[in-house]
Amino acid sequence: MKRTHNFNAGPAAIPLAVLEKAQSELIDFKGTGMSVMELSHRSKPYEDVHNKASQMMRELMDIPEEYEVLFLQGGASLQFAMIPMNFLKSGSPAHFVMSGVWSEKALAEAAKLGETAVIGSSKDDRYTFVPEKFEDPSEGSYVHLTSNNTIYGTQWKTFPKTKLPLVADMSSDIMSRKIDVSQFSLIYAGAQKNLGPSGVTVVIVKKEMLENANQEIPSILKYATHSKQNSLYNTPPTFAIYMLSLVLEWMKEQGGLAAIEELNERKAQIIYSCIDKSGGFYRGHAKKESRSNMNITFTLENEELTKAFLKESKERGFSGLNGHRSIGGCRASAYNAVPLEACEALAEFMTEFQKKHR
Ligand SMILES: Cc1ncc(COP(=O)(O)O)c(C=O)c1O
Repeated sequence: MKRTHNFNAGPAAIPLAVLEKAQSELIDFKGTGMSVMELSHRSKPYEDVHNKASQMMRELMDIPEEYEVLFLQGGASLQFAMIPMNFLKSGSPAHFVMSGVWSEKALAEAAKLGETAVIGSSKDDRYTFVPEKFEDPSEGSYVHLTSNNTIYGTQWKTFPKTKLPLVADMSSDIMSRKIDVSQFSLIYAGAQKNLGPSGVTVVIVKKEMLENANQEIPSILKYATHSKQNSLYNTPPTFAIYMLSLVLEWMKEQGGLAAIEELNERKAQIIYSCIDKSGGFYRGHAKKESRSNMNITFTLENEELTKAFLKESKERGFSGLNGHRSIGGCRASAYNAVPLEACEALAEFMTEFQKKHR
């Protein structure tokens, strides 16, 4: 069996122990004589999986009672549209803090449905930092930000206190660290980076938001529909939710989010320190104060050297180190399931590559 050092940006690494557990239960799930994929979503064995995933999300993230945990489909991209459909009120703008392409996409969808405003942006600086200083609006429907910018490798270190409900796209750093859920009115994330395979989108939403939501939209697009039906309004992505439940169990075994956060910090520092010590051979994209612990972005001196780096790293068993197609360069995504040893091996390879090509 061959497993690579998987630095994919998403879908991304899944803990080996989780894959093995899924493999061992694949054909006969807990004596049911069938796979989880073959169970009815209305059956007791599946409902146990479903409810356990939701309960473990609550436990690990310390989600207060007044929030709902929903399992939806359509990825974060559907959330870009669902959030304004439900919460953008006429004559009351949605405010956006712009930190990259994903914020732009969220803004573009909201702009189709109502009034929007940009209250902060680092676009003019090629999204090299998160725009922490913005005017906190007192009127409007909500404030939206992207907690981790997968493409640029920037991350909010602390979150702003806003007067309006705060909505966050946490697709690429959910459960990578401890956060105070009560600071947010809605958090959303596709599972395929830190939570398991693609197919399920986690939404954590304050119940009072649902009470005041727009009513004139199709049922499937209303958060209230899914909350009333325990995310079983229609057939959920049962296998993805099962995998999520295994990943959450694994997180608990690792010591929960505090332990995971500490390890993520160490993993990222190993690679950043290699960049910083390289005397300019490797150049980080993000400003130091905004550096992401999830996505580490860098370039080399020129295109030729970058290509050689990507080629040699692939030959040495590293996957997914190419940067996003929109900015090029290199990117190492060190999500929760990427082991410390993979980051150490990458730093070692980077040092060796520099010696060879200097
Ligand atoms: C921060 C962020 N938001 C949104 C998305 C889009 O997610 P999806 O493909 O699940 O719609 C991505 C995908 O990489 C992302 O990194």
